This record gives sequence, structure tokens and C-alpha cells, in this order.
Amino acid sequence: MKILGIETSCDETSAAVVVDGRDILSDVVQSQIDIHRIYGGVVPEIACRAHIESIYPVVEKALADAGCTLAAVDAVAVTCAPGLVGALLVGVSMAKALALAAGKPILGVDHIHGHMYANKLAFPDLAYPCVSLVVSGGHTSLYLSRSEIDHDLLGTTTDDAAGEAFDKVAKILDLGFPGGPAIDRVARGRDPGRVVFKRTVPENLDFSFSGIKTAVLYRVRGQDAKKPMALSSPERADVAAGFQAAVVDMLVAQALKACARTGARRIAVGGGVACNSWLREVLAVRAAKEGVETFFPPPRFCTDNAAMIAGIAYPLFKAGRVGDLTLDAVPTKVHRG
Ligand code: KG4
Ligand code: ZN
Repeated sequence: MKILGIETSCDETSAAVVVDGRDILSDVVQSQIDIHRIYGGVVPEIACRAHIESIYPVVEKALADAGCTLAAVDAVAVTCAPGLVGALLVGVSMAKALALAAGKPILGVDHIHGHMYANKLAFPDLAYPCVSLVVSGGHTSLYLSRSEIDHDLLGTTTDDAAGEAFDKVAKILDLGFPGGPAIDRVARGRDPGRVVFKRTVPENLDFSFSGIKTAVLYRVRGQDAKKPMALSSPERADVAAGFQAAVVDMLVAQALKACARTGARRIAVGGGVACNSWLREVLAVRAAKEGVETFFPPPRFCTDNAAMIAGIAYPLFKAGRVGDLTLDAVPTKVHRG
């Protein structure tokens, strides 16, 4: 079964064709990073306009790269939640128009579930149950995944997402946007013990990253938040390394606690922050000590892409979870419990 997937929830316009949830025939990702960089973050209104301009050529290229036509696909899948509502609407409207014009079924996909499915794309033999850790610019949550489409929320951030903290701290350190890759880069090879930040690890399985962000701000600028950053390059790299190590420790502590509490012996990580080299290294080592296996998709499947959306649509279709033309964009979907 050939599924065309569309993803426009934030700042990547993406379309992909995936067969049977496994074989990726095409995956086109048009990033808006260069457009948003001068503002130091994603500007929702500009993101929507850029999606409108890119969506048609991106879908056409995904079909061409896959060597097929719209008539040859069996269904259209689209991210419908959560995300920037105007951005989601562009993808949802496009998917509905294509499904209606070509007489194909339509499936609405939860973006977070897509991030988790990236592991199934990369590791088709991944077995369940497993703990899923989704760490991105908009989300930081732990789930007990009972199958590739059934996930029970175990804990979530009570304030910022981990990626958001990376982006904000990079801004404080004048490292540019997006901050995660920049911090990862400058922290490489530095001693993470030189600048130590407090780890916030709630008793339950939630996360909190606003405290560390403020701690970095005070450390860099003192009590005057408007003061320019006056650190030397090596000092800045040490702060970045200390911040990164603290965030990673918090993520690893909660993920391993989730395994201990649920009895799961696997952790599958997804979302943009799953690209982080320190997280990959530390989680793998600490989990192995507890007999827990870890899974990280290759970086291009960690950040936003439509292959994960077209991929998960296949098991959703088989489970009868098919949508219709009343499908709508839902900006927030905080599912607890
Ligand atoms: O999953 P994603 O592409 O978009 C959302 O759904 O939010 O994640 C983007 C986030 C950004 O905050 C970016 O700074 C972060 O992922 N990120 C990283 C790294 N690469 C991307 N964070 C830490 N280390 C990285 N190497
Ligand atoms: Zn994402």
C-alpha cells in the first residue's frame, strides 16, 4: 500500500511516499530555517506563508521522486495535530484537496506519534512494549508504547520543551538559531563538569526546563538580563557543555525511571533533540548498565519529516483509523493519562 504523507506542523514543508509503512520511495523536506534565522526563532505567520508557497512543489517532487502519480497512491496522510495552527492548516487543506480530487482515503496523524514511528522506520524489528521519549522543539514527553500506534502518556514537561530550552540558551549565548545543533557543536570535546547546573528531576515522570534556562541567563549576564554576553569562546563552550549535560541527565533519569516503573526494557527516542550527540552517548551507556536497549533513528528521521507521517499511516489504516473530509487542524493536543 502506497501512502503519500504531508507534514507542515512547524517550519518544515515535507512530503513523502512510503510503501507498507516501511519502504521510503521519497522524502522531500523543505526547511524554512534560513527564513526564520534572522528573527532568532520560528515566526508563525511567516511559517504559514512559506508553507503555502512550498507545499505544491514539495508534493509534486515527492511524487516525482517516488516515480508515481497521485492516481497511483492508495491514501493521503497528513499531520493534523499538534503544531502551529496556520501551518497545520496548509497541510490539512492540501491533503483534503488531493484526497477529494483523486478519490483517496485521508488519514489525520498526530505529529508526536509520527516522531515515535520514526523508530519503526529505522528499526522495523523494534518490539513492544517500549518507553518512547519524544524530545523536540515543541514537546518533551514520555510514553509507554504498546504498539506503533498505541501510546500511553507517562509524563510531560510542565513548562518548556527540551528543544525550546536549547534554542533559548543558544540565544543567551549568542550561538544563533536553531540552538540545539549549535550547542551540540560547541560543547563537543569540552568538560561538562566545569560549569555545573542543578538537575530538576520531579518525583513523577514529568520534566521542567525553565529553571535551568534562567540559571544559564544569570550565570552569563548576572542580575542584569539586558547586559551583553561577555564570555570568552572557551567559557561559552563550557556553559553550553554544562547546560547540555544537565538537560541530558534529566532526560536520561526520567527515561530510565519510566523503564523501572513500567518494566519496559527498551527506550526509543524521537524528535529533533534526539539528534544530540551527548544524549545518544549517555543514554546508551546508562541504559545498557541497567539492561535496557536504546533506539535512536538517524538524524534526518529525528527532525520533522513526512516519511514518519506516511509510515505510521499504514498501521493506522490497517487498524481502521481512517479520517474523512471533516478533518481539521488542532494546534494543541495534550493527552494526559
Ligand atoms: O522535531 P523538530 O524538528 O521540530 C519540532 O517538532 O519541534 O525539533 C526541532 C528542535 C529544535 O529545538 C532544535 O534546536 C532541536 O530540535 N535540535 C537539537 C539538535 N538538533 C536539533 N537539540 C539538541 N541537539 C541537537 N543536535
Ligand atoms: Zn517535530
